Amino acid sequence: MCLLLLATAMGYITFKLHCCVLFVFLSIIIVNGDITYSIQEEMKRGSIIGNIAKDLGLELGGLSSRKARVDTEDNSVNYCSINIKTGDLIIEERIDREALCEKKPSCVIKQEVVLENPLQLYRINIQIQDINDNSPQFKEESLKLEIQESALKGASFLLDEAHDADIGDNAVKGYSLQKNDYFILNVKSKGFGRKYGELILDKELDRELKKEMVLLLSAFDGGSPQRSGTVILYITVLDANDNVPVFSQTVYKASLRENSPMDTVVLKVSATDADDGVNGEVTYGFDHVSDENQIFSLNPTTGDVTVVGAIDYEKKSSYEIEISAKDGLGLASYATLLIEIKDINDNAPVIFLKSLSNPVPEDVSAGTEVGIINVQDRDSENNRQVRCSIQQNVPFKLVPSIKNYYSLVTTGHLDRELVSDYNITITATDEGSPPLSSSKTVQLSVADINDNPPVFEEQSYSAYVAENNKPGSTLCSVSARDPDWRQNGTVIYSLLPGEVNGSPVSSYLSVNGDKGVIQAVRSFDYEQFRDFKVRVMARDNGSPPLSSNVTVSVFIADMNDNFPQTLYPTPEGSSFMTELVPKAAHGGSLVSKVIAVDADSGQNAWLSYHIVKSTDPGLFSIGLHSGEIRTQRDISESDSMKQNLIVAVKDNGQPSLSATRSMYLLISDNLAEVPELKEISYDEKNSKLTSYLIIALVSVSTFFLTFIIIILGVRFCRRRKPRLLFDGAVAIPSAYLPPNYADVDGTGTLRSTYNYDAYLTTGSRTSDFKFVSSYNDNTLPADQTLKKSASDFAESFEELEACTEV
Ligand SMILES: *[C@@H]1O[C@H](CO)[C@@H](O)[C@H](O)[C@H]1NC(C)=O
Ligand SMILES: *[C@@H]1O[C@H](CO)[C@@H](O)[C@H](O)[C@H]1NC(C)=O
Ligand SMILES: *[C@@H]1O[C@H](CO)[C@@H](O)[C@H](O)[C@H]1NC(C)=O
Repeated sequence: MCLLLLATAMGYITFKLHCCVLFVFLSIIIVNGDITYSIQEEMKRGSIIGNIAKDLGLELGGLSSRKARVDTEDNSVNYCSINIKTGDLIIEERIDREALCEKKPSCVIKQEVVLENPLQLYRINIQIQDINDNSPQFKEESLKLEIQESALKGASFLLDEAHDADIGDNAVKGYSLQKNDYFILNVKSKGFGRKYGELILDKELDRELKKEMVLLLSAFDGGSPQRSGTVILYITVLDANDNVPVFSQTVYKASLRENSPMDTVVLKVSATDADDGVNGEVTYGFDHVSDENQIFSLNPTTGDVTVVGAIDYEKKSSYEIEISAKDGLGLASYATLLIEIKDINDNAPVIFLKSLSNPVPEDVSAGTEVGIINVQDRDSENNRQVRCSIQQNVPFKLVPSIKNYYSLVTTGHLDRELVSDYNITITATDEGSPPLSSSKTVQLSVADINDNPPVFEEQSYSAYVAENNKPGSTLCSVSARDPDWRQNGTVIYSLLPGEVNGSPVSSYLSVNGDKGVIQAVRSFDYEQFRDFKVRVMARDNGSPPLSSNVTVSVFIADMNDNFPQTLYPTPEGSSFMTELVPKAAHGGSLVSKVIAVDADSGQNAWLSYHIVKSTDPGLFSIGLHSGEIRTQRDISESDSMKQNLIVAVKDNGQPSLSATRSMYLLISDNLAEVPELKEISYDEKNSKLTSYLIIALVSVSTFFLTFIIIILGVRFCRRRKPRLLFDGAVAIPSAYLPPNYADVDGTGTLRSTYNYDAYLTTGSRTSDFKFVSSYNDNTLPADQTLKKSASDFAESFEELEACTEV
């Protein structure tokens, strides 16, 4: 051990230090036959290490002869050889200390010098000294480092160590880092003089500012000249979520037409996040859940705001929505979305009927308000400006009132009887484009006012009834119309009070209140009265009621209900009625006349006379219509003095009624000559009656005479129609008179006829007389018949009436 240490020490100091001790030691080494040389590595081939001959004390000439040479103990590499001539030990092979000894501090090559004859062996130790022939070297050319940007100041990051094959001062002495803003280098030592570097964060990183850095790290050794090696540091700053997303605007404004269709893109929001990867992935969303989310949607990735619901300006005219943008780790920022909705004319005006006086009385004056209308349009501005109109053909108009109110007023008079219902169509149009309109129909009815009196359908009514009618039989019916409504138009008929022949009308007629049917209350007698008038009133049920009156004329028609009655000769039993026929009477002489009357009228009173039985049928004839009995031939002596005739008097009714009379005719010039006659007259028991009759006859004759005078006087005073004839019990048309009647007129033998004429006209001068006259005028010349229709009668009666009123 001690020896080894000693040897080592010797190696270091050999030939460098000239001290005695060392010299002693060296000597010892030499004594032992060992020579030590110290050379630098990597010397050129042929370089001289030392002079063997001199150092070993050998003769130069002897080297060659003794075959001096270098050998190795174990047949390894011969690094050197001997120059025989000079005795120099020269380098034969490259000597690389690092290859031979690596990091050993001492590197010795052992060689032997062999001499022959005699064999001598010398050991040669060649100390190899290091030179700085290697640079520090990193394992790789580049180094990748990933550092969180969130790393704190002072954080250290270990770097690779550089290696230098050299030793001692020639090994790695230190490191240097390229100058930069963020990092500094801290060099640390390990054992055995090894050094390594650490990156120290000097300033906090910001990936968003600088996300990559390339730095050069150098390692240098202590040799001279100094050698160095480098490595490129690729530093990647890893992202930390240190940035919030940022919206491009704090408030986004957009306007949108209402009713925009689904999926319309309203606008696009965008936010950016400076961070990387998931930290920079922005997700958009509504800030909170509300109704707006049903209407708009925000695409989380693209930021498109689209329509997903119904956009109705009238519901909401603007939206203010908070939106957020979040990155992957939840950092968020906010912005506001303002969406103005633009109105379009999508609402038609709506008409509200606020009040209506229905029905409206028909008597309201023009300008009366009957209803109030309100019009509303939910749109805005021009789209809600509304004009109202009403159709033309109704008597109403709209008068604008406050705001959107209109009054519906009448413009004229209403007449329910003309128009009872109005459908008033009100149209409202707004001023949008295109305009929208709507209409409403108001039904208005007109209430009745009792403003119409009942009106009879005819101006007057006439009723015709045959006499002897049954009580209760219907004569006619009247009817009146009233256009008013219900009770205002309900007509009630009644008889107006009045008198007929001194009795109240109600004892003659009755009228059905509802139907206007007029009925006879009793049976009428033509012979009593032929016509009468009543007034019927039609009254409505209104309050106050209105009424009107009409005249109903009732005409009674004759029936053949009276038998002819003979006035002369008097009825049976008075044999006193005997005519004297002069014996000297010629044919055609008027001997007597049958006078009969019939209470009926017209045909019913048109009498005809026939001889139904006679003593001598050829002797007498009777005028068919005059009743005059004439001789047909001259009287002869042979004719019987007493002649008996049975005469029938018939009227012309259907069926006809008749009466018969007997007549006694005496053909004699002197009454006294006829005793039978006296007998005959005395046969009559009642002589008292006879004397009465005589008195009556005389007084009647006197009466007649007086009347004839009066009548004649009257006739002269009055204008009369020349054709009128009224000689006879009834009026007999002249055409119906026998042809010889006029002749008879001239004979002067018509006394009794004239008497009778006067008798009949007494007391009934006016009406009878005129009736007959019209009868003649109108009918007979035309068709030679006596039949007359009811209307003809009516005309006649009207004429009659007119005349009466003169
Ligand atoms: C009014 O309208 C109603 C219902 O549509 C209809 O029945 C009626 O006849 C109309 N009236 C008029 C006067 O047009
Ligand atoms: C009848 O007319 C009166 C006014 O004259 C009126 O008050 C009444 O309502 C009307 N009756 C009917 C049923 O219309
Ligand atoms: C109808 O007659 C009655 C009674 O005479 C009278 O009061 C009324 O005014 C008359 N009406 C008309 C419309 O003439």
